[in-house]
Amino acid sequence: MILVTGALGQIGTELVLALQEKHGKDKIIASDLKEPENYDCKFEKCDILDNENYERINKENGVDTVYHLAAILSAAGEKNPDLCYDVNVKGLENVLKVAKKYNQRLFCPSSIAVFGPDVPRENTPQNVELNPKTVYGKTKVKGEELCDLYFNEHNIDIRGIRYPGLISWKHKPSGGTTDYAVEMYFDAIEKGEYVCFVNEDTRLPMMFMDDAIRATIQLMDAPIESLNYHSNYNLSSMSFSAKELADEISSHVDFNCIYKPDYRQDIANTWPISIDDKDARSDWGWEPKFDITKMTEEMITNLRRLNE
Ligand SMILES: NC(=O)c1ccc[n+]([C@@H]2O[C@H](COP(=O)([O-])OP(=O)(O)OC[C@H]3O[C@@H](n4cnc5c(N)ncnc54)[C@H](O)[C@@H]3O)[C@@H](O)[C@H]2O)c1
Repeated sequence: MILVTGALGQIGTELVLALQEKHGKDKIIASDLKEPENYDCKFEKCDILDNENYERINKENGVDTVYHLAAILSAAGEKNPDLCYDVNVKGLENVLKVAKKYNQRLFCPSSIAVFGPDVPRENTPQNVELNPKTVYGKTKVKGEELCDLYFNEHNIDIRGIRYPGLISWKHKPSGGTTDYAVEMYFDAIEKGEYVCFVNEDTRLPMMFMDDAIRATIQLMDAPIESLNYHSNYNLSSMSFSAKELADEISSHVDFNCIYKPDYRQDIANTWPISIDDKDARSDWGWEPKFDITKMTEEMITNLRRLNE
């Protein structure tokens, strides 16, 4: 059985569907803090900090693979650092202990937030010293270290990707620094105007959710012998400024974008502009399918359909 924690979030919403399609509906269990209504998947309500309940779910269902997505994201983490540390580090420790006890395979995502302002911001390499300035980034570095420890010392098969900002239309994100890119699409369609919380020159690495889900499953399917890294693969597909995104959306929708940077600008300023992902490409054949043009067509078509 496969368990997805944080299943109701931006990635989980789409990953559960993809895993159901690949393995069959009866092989997937979704889990999150709150129980959803009319949810088309076996569901277990669980706070990841409740070790007893988390272990019970794994034991009772014979879980052999976990996609651990429960986390507090960057912007939310800066506002609530203690909760961010608890969920992202202590929560992960619970997941790792259970993975060790039941010899599970584990997918645990990291983030471009692990990089601090002192690394090369263009084409940020896989191997650089990680010195993030944000609480969220620090918890993600700790997460990579914990995963590597369990891989090296306890022989647990753990894999992970440093996701860039993810853009999707099935679920509106909240609490992340790259949320502006998704919100811009939603507000362009729904309101014809968007107030963007970073300035127009802010350029960050981004990826369409379809590519992120495909990468996740591709990495989990890769033979372990081909992997030179485990919990921390750099992954890239596109980088653009907020203004370039607004211009691309404007070629489909008449909308007005106003730039009013807030505290999230400071977080964005410490992150890479683009990412070198040559190891993901050579180790497990990663190749993105969506650029900004193709992604925008897909986003606009689907959001228009939802708003009809
Ligand atoms: N979305 C992105 O752009 C992005 C980029 C880089 C890395 N990531 C990483 O990917 C993972 C998933 O991100 P996401 O975008 O789906 O996040 P999200 O915030 O959309 O979803 C996280 C989910 O975790 C749940 N959660 C929070 N605290 C919990 C707890 N104590 N117990 C159980 N569940 C809890 C939330 O209810 C939510 O449904 C995270 O590790 C995140 O750091 C995401």
